Amino acid sequence: MTLQIKTLEGYHKAYDQSVNDPEGFWAEQAATFTWSQKWDKVLDWDFKGPNIKWFTGGKLNITENCLDRHLASRGDKIAILFEPNDVNGAAKSYTYKQLHAEVCKCANALKARGITKGDRVVFYMPMVPELAIGVLACARIGAVHSVVFAGFSAQALADRVNDAQAKMIICSDYNKRGAKTIPVKKVVDDAMAIGCDSIEATLVHRNTGEPIDLEAGRDHWWHYEVDHRSTSCPAEQMDSEDMLFILYTSGSTGKPKGVVHTCGGYMVYTCFTFKNAFQYQEEDIYWCTADIGWITGHSYIVYGPLLAGATTMMFEGVPTYPDAGRFWQVCEKHKVNQFYTAPTAIRALMAKGEDIPSQYDLSSIKVLGTVGEPINEEAWNWYNKKVGKEKAPIIDTWWQTETGGIMITTLPGITDQKPTYACYPMPGIQACLLDKDGVELTDNDVEGLLCIKFPWPSMIRTTYGDHARCKQVYFSTFEDKYFTGDGARRDADGRYRIIGRVDDVINVSGHRLGTAEVENAINQHPEVIESAVVGSPHDIKGQGIYAYVITSDKVGDHDEFRKELIAVVAKEIGPIAKPDKIQLVSGLPKTRSGKIMRRILRKIAANELSNLGDVSTLLNPEIVEEVKKGRLV
Ligand code: WT7
Repeated sequence: MTLQIKTLEGYHKAYDQSVNDPEGFWAEQAATFTWSQKWDKVLDWDFKGPNIKWFTGGKLNITENCLDRHLASRGDKIAILFEPNDVNGAAKSYTYKQLHAEVCKCANALKARGITKGDRVVFYMPMVPELAIGVLACARIGAVHSVVFAGFSAQALADRVNDAQAKMIICSDYNKRGAKTIPVKKVVDDAMAIGCDSIEATLVHRNTGEPIDLEAGRDHWWHYEVDHRSTSCPAEQMDSEDMLFILYTSGSTGKPKGVVHTCGGYMVYTCFTFKNAFQYQEEDIYWCTADIGWITGHSYIVYGPLLAGATTMMFEGVPTYPDAGRFWQVCEKHKVNQFYTAPTAIRALMAKGEDIPSQYDLSSIKVLGTVGEPINEEAWNWYNKKVGKEKAPIIDTWWQTETGGIMITTLPGITDQKPTYACYPMPGIQACLLDKDGVELTDNDVEGLLCIKFPWPSMIRTTYGDHARCKQVYFSTFEDKYFTGDGARRDADGRYRIIGRVDDVINVSGHRLGTAEVENAINQHPEVIESAVVGSPHDIKGQGIYAYVITSDKVGDHDEFRKELIAVVAKEIGPIAKPDKIQLVSGLPKTRSGKIMRRILRKIAANELSNLGDVSTLLNPEIVEEVKKGRLV
């Protein structure tokens, strides 16, 4: 069994071993899984390429480890517990045996439609069990899944499908989110109309049953394709470094990039971190409220928990439907033991009524997790007092799409916690802080740029179709280090606190967006001459989107124009990227070489007007006064 650390000494011992003998440490963990062929070499690496290979020569299938491996000992244990959007809807569950059968059926259906090892399959679905089943079915036959969050627009979906050159889209008819019903299949149709030439077929899961259009020969119902298939399907034996999935995420420049994760290392690390960060025990009910469209859902709803033989809950709905007690009602109903959510949800629920959690029996909760963005002290304290009753340790887990699994966290009940601090690196994670010249800050009580010095099994291997970009973004800022893009401080006792992004990435309600991406969308409007987007402090979302826009003089009605801009962004990216504030300006502060001074724009948006720094060297210093005066509150 994968190591579960139980004591502080145990943590130190594991950490020390993972640094002094990383290959030995991870080989011991890897040996607890089912491999059809053992690896020849634990690790091959250089950060210059980058070239990262874990467990080379090893052959495995991750679904045999998620499913088949548990059948003898946990066949009748619930693997997936499903809580629907509607509060009166029936919860559904799949035991490990049932899940295994459903995954095999779906895998056989994919094969029958010509999907084979290496083909890319895009998912655009709500949080229903079929999403997890479909993802695992891909992994079963060696197809590469790429899940696109169902809040992205048709254009964003088409961009991802085309970048991945996917052969198939799997979607639902409609998606229920709170009181809303969203026509998911219609969005897929729109994406196809934009142009997705690589797509040969779609598979449509009937979720609400309301009418949709199916194009003969192209669109197929899930139930016709899947339900009658055999419940057994041999697991394709994958090389450890074969691709498992692509997940698109935003960067500081250009279009979202496809982060590539591979089979062996991702399996070992997500299982290890799941067992240790959550201290999952055999009878526990674990609930992560993320969407499988993000990495959190991949690693800590699907793979990590199933690899560990856990009961993992999938929730279709939203935190505030039918009311702001929903999360706690679900925790009470299913006696949830580990609860994992995002600071934005905590802040939103806290704002709806500080005492709402006390209307529910939350005594089952043993561990509370947070992820996705820095958690402010007020939200931390509320979570601790009102939800955890000061008895459940809080784990503030820092990690990224690129890291595949949790990197820095408290181990609950084992290492200590401190509000707003993620605290200690996981075994295997050699975190460090650098100054801007790349010099490592070796003391404690320092602030710097967060980097990782040594490979870990679930780290990014490449960005799909563009290895140079992977090198440039993560491995070229500093020599021989993985650069996270985050700033952090380390306190006197070695605990890490993540401050936030130091690049042009913003974090809106835990959703990652590139400022350039939002600007590109805004610039699609014919009357926009130029725009600059920055993140600005927002009470609930963490960061809001503040856009500065130069328009042509043809624009008469400014309010109408702002509405049009918001619509353009929703169309190009999706509702999550809609600007909160749009300030119309006659110019943008620029350097003499023509670069927009975002630092100044960020400060103005944050109302830090007194310390804008020296603006006299700008190309157009006079514009700063105008922008300051027009600031939107
Ligand atoms: C960025 C990665 C990893 C799952 C969800 C987000 C920020 C993430 C924390 C945390 C402070 C955090 C960082 C990071 N972030 N977790 N516990 N405390 N900041 O994944 O979309 O790839 O975003 O989210 O800025 O770089 P992602």
